[in-house]
Parts: sequence; structure tokens; C-alpha cells
Amino acid sequence: MPDLSTTYMGLRLKNPLIAGSCGLTGTLAGLKELEAGGAAAVVLKSIFEEEIAAEYADMLAEAKKKGMSLESYDYYDYQVRGDRVASYVELVGQAKQALSIPVIASINCTYSHEWASFAHDIETAGADGLELNMFFLPSDMKRSSEEREQEYFLIVERVLKQVRIPVALKISPYFSTLAQVIHRLSRTGIAALVLFNRFSSIDFDIEKMAVSASNRLSTPAELSLPLRWVALMARRVDCDLAASTGVHDGAGLIKQLLAGAKAVQAVSTLYRNSAGRAAAMLTDLGDWMDRHGYKTIADFRGAMSQEESGDPAVYERVQFMKHYGGE
Ligand SMILES: Cc1cc2nc3c(=O)[nH]c(=O)nc-3n(C[C@H](O)[C@H](O)[C@H](O)COP(=O)(O)O)c2cc1C
Repeated sequence: MPDLSTTYMGLRLKNPLIAGSCGLTGTLAGLKELEAGGAAAVVLKSIFEEEIAAEYADMLAEAKKKGMSLESYDYYDYQVRGDRVASYVELVGQAKQALSIPVIASINCTYSHEWASFAHDIETAGADGLELNMFFLPSDMKRSSEEREQEYFLIVERVLKQVRIPVALKISPYFSTLAQVIHRLSRTGIAALVLFNRFSSIDFDIEKMAVSASNRLSTPAELSLPLRWVALMARRVDCDLAASTGVHDGAGLIKQLLAGAKAVQAVSTLYRNSAGRAAAMLTDLGDWMDRHGYKTIADFRGAMSQEESGDPAVYERVQFMKHYGGE
């Protein structure tokens, strides 16, 4: 059996497959199942600052209805935040006790000033690493892309000052100069970049004239976007790269390792096929390595990155030309 072990964010992993942040990683029972299913690490469900703010808004509205004075405002803010952070910190502590694989906590924040204190609490709870789940929909017409981008750097700087555990940043592909942003972010001191987050989409119910959620889970076809970007950026960045989105089977896992990913995160396939899917994907990886004579992951990681390619132009070709499969 080939050696599947690797390192990611400075953490030693028994294999490169991580259960990504989602509902399955939001409970202790789910986390235990994922470990038993073969995942080498887990990224906990994010703690969402947005949700805390919404809960706070509800409490505030309720308090106002009851005629409470606005002096309670700060108290409720503090209380809601405290409760949410406390239960998240408790989950981190329980996961650390119950699992023998690394536990990476995850924060999603919308207001930059709040991140740092969450991060500190999570580190104290014993998390092995921290993933920052950052995304601002580029629908804001008031701020330039430079101003938006700047927020990423400010937040990273603030968090890195607060914690000593390794920090990963999970980003979206929605940047106007993606390669440059990835490169610059990789030099901030973060341990890894996760390419890419995937977002819930909307759909319209044309009978009820209502907006609904759609495409909660990814399809294997969605692998192609992160695959291109991992392949383009591998060996050109100063931190590890993890791939996320569209990895549903052993082949997807192998492709992302060939592109240059240090670790690969999976979510939708675990929902569709259960936590045990990880073991099947890893068996496929081991068999493939045997067939190709690879003894360790390092023997082939990044072998198909753009940097290693004999035809680097193909990685940047985005239009159909005759010799590229177009008719
Ligand atoms: C039900 C569900 C909940 C999710 N919750 C989070 C979350 O809390 N934080 C986060 O960073 N990503 C979250 N994600 C996104 C996943 O971590 C992942 O990036 C995305 O599903 C793409 O990977 P996949 O193609 O393997 O599903 C969630 C995804 C799903 C399906």
C-alpha cells in the first residue's frame, strides 16, 4: 500500500482528503462519522457572524416590542455573541477530545472588527488550525474592487496577530485579478489558501413568484474551475493550496493532487454518498498510485501543474479553437 500521508498547514495528515466545512461537521456525531469514514482532518461548520447579527436583531426587535430601553442593546449584543461563541468553542473542545485527526475551526464574518476575538477564543479551545471563510458578493456598487480586496488583507493581518495556530483562507474566484490576489494573499503569513468556496444560488418559483435556494450540492463538472486555478497557481505561491468544490470521487481527488493541491476538501459527495465515501476515494487513490508506481503523494503532486507542463498555454486557453476540441 503506498504512503498517502501528507502535510497541510503544517499539520500532519494521514491522507490528503479533508471533510470540508458543512452541516456534517457541525455536530460531534457527524465529526466522529467522518473520522471513521477515513477523512484525514475536519473543517468544522463555520461560525457565522451574520447569523449572530441576525439573532441579535431578532432579540432587539423583541426587546423593543416589550418596551425595554435601548440600554439593553449592548447587553443583548454581548449575550447573543457570548452564547454562540461559547457553544462553538464547546464543539471545538469536544471534537479535540473525541477525534484523533486534526480539527480545523472555521469562521465566517461579515464585519471585519469582530474576527479577531472569535479567532482567539477558538485557538484557546484547542483547534489545530483555523479556516477563514471569506466572501463578499461583488454586488456592492459603492466600493471599488481595490477597496473590497483590501478587506481581505486587513482581516488576515488582524487574525494573524491574534493567533499562533495555522490559518487558512478560503476564497471565492470572484476577483478581477485573481492570480495576483492569490499570490499576494499567499505572502501574508497564512498557511494555506482554499480554492474555492461555493455559494448557494437562487432560483425563482414562477408559480409562487418566490425566490428559492437552488443547487445546494455541487456536481463533478464543477471540479474544472478550481482544477484550473490550483494548476495555475501551484508552485507559484508561498503557502499550501487546498482544493474545494466538485471533488466527488477518487479521480477528482487524484486530479487535484496532480494539479498541485496539498490537500483536497470534499463535502457534497459526503452528503450524497455518506461519510464512508472518503474511504472509497482513498482506495482509488492508492490503487492508482500502485498502477503508476508512485510510493508517496510527493512523487506526483503538482506533476500536472502549469509550472511542470510542456504546454503551459493550454492552461490559459479559454476559448474554443479548432485544435482544442472546437469544430
Ligand atoms: C450544506 C452545506 C453547508 C456548508 N456550510 C459551509 C460553512 O459553514 N462554511 C464554509 O466555509 N463552507 C460551507 N459549505 C461549502 C463547502 O465547505 C464547500 O466549499 C462546497 O460545498 C464545495 O465543495 P463540494 O463540491 O465538495 O461540495 C457548505 C456546503 C454545504 C453543501
